[in-house]
Amino acid sequence: MRVLVTGAAGRLGSRVVEVLSTRGHTPIPADVAEFDIADYSATRAWIAAAQPDFVIHPAAWTDVDGCAREPDKAITINGLGAGNVAAATADLGVPILYVSSNEVFDGKAKQPYREYDWTQPINPYGYSKWVGEQAVVGVNPRHMIARTSWLFAHGGKNFIQTMLGAAAAGKPLKVVVNEIACPTYNDDLAVALVNLMATRRWGVYHMVNEGYCSRYDFARYVLDHAGYAEMPIGRITSHAWARPSTPPEFTPLANLAGKIVGVTLRPWQAAVDAFLTKEGLFR
Ligand SMILES: NC(=O)c1ccc[n+]([C@@H]2O[C@H](COP(=O)([O-])OP(=O)(O)OC[C@H]3O[C@@H](n4cnc5c(N)ncnc54)[C@H](OP(=O)(O)O)[C@@H]3O)[C@@H](O)[C@H]2O)c1
Repeated sequence: MRVLVTGAAGRLGSRVVEVLSTRGHTPIPADVAEFDIADYSATRAWIAAAQPDFVIHPAAWTDVDGCAREPDKAITINGLGAGNVAAATADLGVPILYVSSNEVFDGKAKQPYREYDWTQPINPYGYSKWVGEQAVVGVNPRHMIARTSWLFAHGGKNFIQTMLGAAAAGKPLKVVVNEIACPTYNDDLAVALVNLMATRRWGVYHMVNEGYCSRYDFARYVLDHAGYAEMPIGRITSHAWARPSTPPEFTPLANLAGKIVGVTLRPWQAAVDAFLTKEGLFR
């Protein structure tokens, strides 16, 4: 299949392009240099010329604090931009897979969120991703929404390498205990999305590594398994760490729909082990 991937210069998009190639598909990578998803005419024209059979749409403005400072820009790119991609695909008769976020939930649940639980974003980034979901659902019936969380990926900014960098430099670490979600390996997610695409079972999915933990437990696991078990980590709450965005506290995602179509991800601890090995991050 010819599969157009937006955000193809980003962490997830670039990996999805690689996985598509290894599966015998023809990836068509596109990023902001090809077209700005906030511009409907440019988006439709580029997608029409590319003649894809399917569009995977991870492109987004992912700077959560930036979104809090400029909420209208967040909605324009993440919400209305997703709507533009969805409208173009609907017009051209092409299905779409939109990558969304755990932050569409308010974080007040007592158990992991299921796919059709009530969405209630509490910050501008989450709201913008929610607007994107609504737009996709509203304009293209052949859609998949794949929510994910706490990605760790090769290169770029990521939580694991930040923790290990600080540990290696002997810097004191303080990590929040009251943010809880599913750490998810970018490589696992890319494979899962390509598998999900192949099912052609439209609807909402939670594509995260199995299990969940606090940011503190995530950091502790990484340090213990990368050779820094002796390194202490201070426990703080998010209230002690002022930032423009307010993260929802408890947003583990339960993968019920993916299980039905046979798309599941391994436990997050196994995924972290694989990441540490692949990246050669042991001390
Ligand atoms: N990272 C996470 O922990 C996480 C968690 C939950 C959900 N997600 C979702 O997963 C998806 C992929 O995330 P990621 O970490 O791979 O993000 P990323 O590395 O920031 O990649 C996003 C890509 O989209 C591009 N982009 C931004 N604005 C655009 C526009 N107006 N038109 C076209 N392209 C544009 C970016 O280009 P520039 O870099 O030039 O702006 C970038 O190449 C996103 O939809 C995100 O909301 C991520």
